[in-house]
Amino acid sequence: MPQKIIIDTDPGQDDAVALLLALASDELEVIAVVTVAGNVDLAKTTTNAAKVLELAGRADIPLYAGGDRPLGQRELVTAEHVHGPTGLDGPDLPEPQIAVQDTHGVDFLVESLRANDPGTITLCTLGPLTNVAAALNKAPDIASRIKELVVMGGAYFEVGNITPAAEFNVFVDPEAADIVLRSDIPVTLLSLDVTHRVLTTPERLARIRALGNACGSAVAAMLSFSEKFDVEKYGSAGGPLHDPCVIAYVLQSDLFSGRAVNVSVELEGKYTNGMTVVDYWRVTDRPHNVHFVRSVDDEGFYALLTERLGRLP
Ligand code: BDR
Ligand code: CA
Repeated sequence: MPQKIIIDTDPGQDDAVALLLALASDELEVIAVVTVAGNVDLAKTTTNAAKVLELAGRADIPLYAGGDRPLGQRELVTAEHVHGPTGLDGPDLPEPQIAVQDTHGVDFLVESLRANDPGTITLCTLGPLTNVAAALNKAPDIASRIKELVVMGGAYFEVGNITPAAEFNVFVDPEAADIVLRSDIPVTLLSLDVTHRVLTTPERLARIRALGNACGSAVAAMLSFSEKFDVEKYGSAGGPLHDPCVIAYVLQSDLFSGRAVNVSVELEGKYTNGMTVVDYWRVTDRPHNVHFVRSVDDEGFYALLTERLGRLP
């Protein structure tokens, strides 16, 4: 039986690659895609998710639009400086035809978690945690029904990418991240500490481009665009590939290793708002609420990604 997953996302080129990796993998049943405002506004993240579903030939997967602003009283912060004005700059993808479902994404999360047997759905979040936190606020009973929540978010040893202290997904909606991390859901966190180890080097992008299918070409075009900002910033051989780590973890957790720790979100810091404070060395008695991933087999990750992308149209 394939693992049922729901992908909550704000595409974003790296979100798009994560979606494609999931759609290419028959160990997974993607029961729906839910969008959230993050890299760009909600209308754009929803259009981008629809484009990716159509690119993969999977217009049958229901698409729901979720939250259009952070839960806390904060302005939405977006990242066009990384992802371009559309959020998915790079490839030239057609305007999508598929209809977005009428149900709000948060209501869908609640309904589907209640309708499926407890412990059968893994939730994969690739953007701000707005939708999951709103669903928990609305229906606290769903916490015990989620098998696992696998999150791209946060940073500790690598520190921040949107402020000196904070990672983008947590910074956009720290109140939401705080609610999620204080719930009893089993959480695995793929932070910048691990996503910065899977770099899109020219050789890796060339292998993806050489697949010769539409999805491989689109991924190469997306990542060639989005890596530019990070290559310049970090002076590295390629850009970090964040969100696909979530799907790779669900597919092949032995590519990764980490440990159980406490992670708390800073909500009041003058300079550290949205920082994930990771008690990696266990110097407090705060409860272990997160499986915090620290290392990855990057060659194994790209071998998996490239092989799976080759299965798509
Ligand atoms: C995260 O922020 C977004 O820009 C990416 O899509 C990823 O989810 C990395 O900090
Ligand atoms: Ca994202």
